[in-house]
Amino acid sequence: MKRVLLIVSGGIAAYKALELVRLLTKAGYGVTSVLTQAGAQFVTPLSLQALTGNKVYTELFSLTDESEMGHIELSRSADLVVVAPASADILAKMAAGLAGDLASTLLLATDKRVLVAPAMNVRMWEHAATQANMALLQTRGVLVVPPDAGPMACGEFGPGRLAEPPVILAAIEAALGVGGPLTGKHAIVTSGPTHEPIDPVRYIANRSSGKQGHAIAAALAALGARVTLVSGPVEIGDPAGVQTVHVETAAQMLAAVEAALPADIAVCAAAVGDWRVADEAPHKMKKDGGVPPALHLMENPDILARLSAPGPQRPKLVVGFAAETERLEEYAAAKRARKGCDWIVANNVGGTGIMGGEENEVLLLSADGARAWPKAGKIEVAAKLAAKIGEFFA
Ligand code: CTP
Repeated sequence: MKRVLLIVSGGIAAYKALELVRLLTKAGYGVTSVLTQAGAQFVTPLSLQALTGNKVYTELFSLTDESEMGHIELSRSADLVVVAPASADILAKMAAGLAGDLASTLLLATDKRVLVAPAMNVRMWEHAATQANMALLQTRGVLVVPPDAGPMACGEFGPGRLAEPPVILAAIEAALGVGGPLTGKHAIVTSGPTHEPIDPVRYIANRSSGKQGHAIAAALAALGARVTLVSGPVEIGDPAGVQTVHVETAAQMLAAVEAALPADIAVCAAAVGDWRVADEAPHKMKKDGGVPPALHLMENPDILARLSAPGPQRPKLVVGFAAETERLEEYAAAKRARKGCDWIVANNVGGTGIMGGEENEVLLLSADGARAWPKAGKIEVAAKLAAKIGEFFA
């Protein structure tokens, strides 16, 4: 029997944790639950205990609990740790690595995958602090079931409502490798910039952070796919549960992608350098007071176009990205035709710090036409794209 450790933190959505427990036990999972102090304001330990059939843990320093089951043991005896609802507070504690109570201590001590289902007021969810915490947690491999948008208990409208329990159950099953829609599929994702050397100490690069591509890799893995992430040089960490290959140049990225074939899915989110320096200097170039050197550039191989080319190795679904500053749909449609990929995720990078930022505003272009998605965090965009890919293979 697979075991889930469910941490219920504070918030009006905590009552939905009871429904989640009911679904989990009905599906045959063993559930042990932990209530934070704030969570206990919304549901009682008794109701959780009745539904799980197990003791509910609430305090960090309880001698009886320590002799029964220490917190390290508690955090490791489960197959998956789930935080639902996850409040802004517990997400911030996780991001900062705090361990002042039982729930945060378990989250710091666990060696298992962690899945969070955030729920909070829309402004708290959209706050830069929460979004930065989410981005950081996801780069560490924390799986996310994004909140739903809709009217909230506080009277406001927007994203922040806890995802519905059946959706959380599906994400739990995918994380445990039980029947996710992409189970058995191999996905290759490219992410980040490339560095094209000028000489041993200088290079040409771009502002890509890798946040969107890494989030897509994690989101595909959460739906059960085996994921190979080919990443250019980025500041963020490798997502958990994903095989990450680190490269520097476009040529290395192409070689790593080709080595990872065959695949069912390819998502090219990397901002591959269009050109490399044709005559890379073997030694550091010195200024000698004369004319500054001119760089002779040559075009890099187009990884997306290679993957999209017909042939036995072509993945069934190839998704490209288009970064445009104007005439988004028109340019993206032309790019889709030119490269031969199935879908294009077009983003407008002309506006406010999309590149390198936490948010993305995209248009999904396929043979069926164009669909504009509302501006959302990169994690939400990734989850939505992964879900669409899941539907494609359904
Ligand atoms: N891409 C790639 N290999 C390259 C260049 C681009 O795989 N050598 C992929 C990117 O990962 C992305 C898409 O192609 O999925 C972007 O296409 P690109 O031609 O780079 O478009 P832009 O540079 O955004 O636009 P353009 O050159 O048309 O202005």
